[in-house]
Amino acid sequence: PVLVVDFGAQYAQLIARRVREASCFSEVVPHSMPVAELLAKDPAAVILSGGPSSVYAEGAPSLDPALLEAGVPVFGMCYGFQAMAQALGGTVERTGLSEFGATPARVLDTSSTLFNGQPAEQSVWMSHGDSVSAAPPGMTVTATTSGAPVAGFEDDERRLYGVQWHPEVLHSTFGQQVLENFLLRGAGLTGEWTAANVVDDLVSAVRAQVGDARVICGLSGGVDSSVAAALVQRAVGDQLTCVFVDHGLLRSNEAEQVEKDFVAATGVDLVVVDARERFLTALAGVSDPEEKRKIIGREFIRVFEQAARDVVGAHEGAGDHPVEFLVQGTLYPDVVESGGGSGTANIKSHHNVGGLPDDLRFKLVEPLRLLFKDEVRQVGLELGVPEAIVWRQPFPGPGLGIRIVGEVTGERLDVLRSADAIAREELTAAGLDRDIWQCPVVLLADIRSVGVQGDGRTYGHPVVLRPVSSEDAMTADWTRVPYDVLARISTRITNEVREVNRVVLDVTSKPPGTIEWE
Ligand code: XMP
Repeated sequence: PVLVVDFGAQYAQLIARRVREASCFSEVVPHSMPVAELLAKDPAAVILSGGPSSVYAEGAPSLDPALLEAGVPVFGMCYGFQAMAQALGGTVERTGLSEFGATPARVLDTSSTLFNGQPAEQSVWMSHGDSVSAAPPGMTVTATTSGAPVAGFEDDERRLYGVQWHPEVLHSTFGQQVLENFLLRGAGLTGEWTAANVVDDLVSAVRAQVGDARVICGLSGGVDSSVAAALVQRAVGDQLTCVFVDHGLLRSNEAEQVEKDFVAATGVDLVVVDARERFLTALAGVSDPEEKRKIIGREFIRVFEQAARDVVGAHEGAGDHPVEFLVQGTLYPDVVESGGGSGTANIKSHHNVGGLPDDLRFKLVEPLRLLFKDEVRQVGLELGVPEAIVWRQPFPGPGLGIRIVGEVTGERLDVLRSADAIAREELTAAGLDRDIWQCPVVLLADIRSVGVQGDGRTYGHPVVLRPVSSEDAMTADWTRVPYDVLARISTRITNEVREVNRVVLDVTSKPPGTIEWE
């Protein structure tokens, strides 16, 4: 793999993603990992990430010079660049010329390894207080900016490279090319990795882990749990039982899609639990968002636990193997964020299946734990998971329950489901699914306004369209959906859903608004 050494900022994960976009497999490792351990992973190349510290600060993460002498190609970015400069005998100092944001850089040699094929003037994304004022011996200076006399250096002999800026950030106009030049030209990688062609390896790994034991999986209908289930199904066939809890807060056709399409495509053994009445009863009279979330989470766990016990019970005795494993659709960002943990996975409360308790006492199977979301989609397609599931937008565990502002009732759920189905249909028809991260439709059930339709007065409810664009749901912007698409959605909803007489658009970014209304 290409190892990305995390010097303690938010950048390492993004770098890992960009490396994979260049078709090279990457993994993030902490800067505290000893060089021997790091080399034992047999890295094809190493990237040193940016970080928040000054290389001179007390307790600043240090770079063991042994890494630079191991013969492995190394690329330092920002903090990593300075740490390299320092370790190799250059000078890093506080020049008083800090640079933040988009900065013009001048490339001194456009035939150098990193800058080959690029213009001499490029805009780069900077974020530094210290600067490298003298390059280490043996290093050729390849780029400069007004605040960083040495903004890039390389030594092809030792295959050591660095830039002061952040090539992984899209604002660095040639960032991806710089990175690819390092990987393909500097480190000599072939760039043939894709998520789709590791499916066989993932399948064998699951087979090796699970053996003859039985496995259960809580299926939410979302991308992650569906692809994880499909993968495990491919690996161990009918040793897997999936449990799908229909809590009645799903979008239109969702349960059917899982029941029919998913089973048809994968052949999994599926148990569907119809818990719609139970959830409606538990939610009666409740309009506080947090209270709703707690009730939904609690009921979900109770229903799932019972279903899991039934599955376990059905396979006890009779010479059958016991249910030993639980499949989780954990993705790489969760793994990196929880400290790159090696096998210490405890189940999060904000997960696909609503936070299963650890006293279920299963060992975890997490076949997607090294993949990013877009890669999971590729794996899903490779496994034949229906596109309607693979390209599904994120949908929260508490479902439509947190998209009705006010009490959740069966009638209101029907109204929202109809409006939501129309919005989704039109956005799909307009080809916007891949541009929009997700588009919640929210029913303002406690608000009524006056309207007129067919010469008569109406007194109905508004629905809110909340289309957002995002890379990771941590931040988001409202999507500029074309007016004619919005107009079609509005006309259809007000015509086809009797209770709704007004459609409004949410034009708030996150922050300050969250994506969901509750
Ligand atoms: P917010 O509303 O916090 O949402 O901006 C960020 C992302 O998380 C989803 N979301 C949830 N997903 N269980 C989930 O599985 C939840 O309880 C939950 N709440 C919000 C939301 O749809 C968005 O993608």
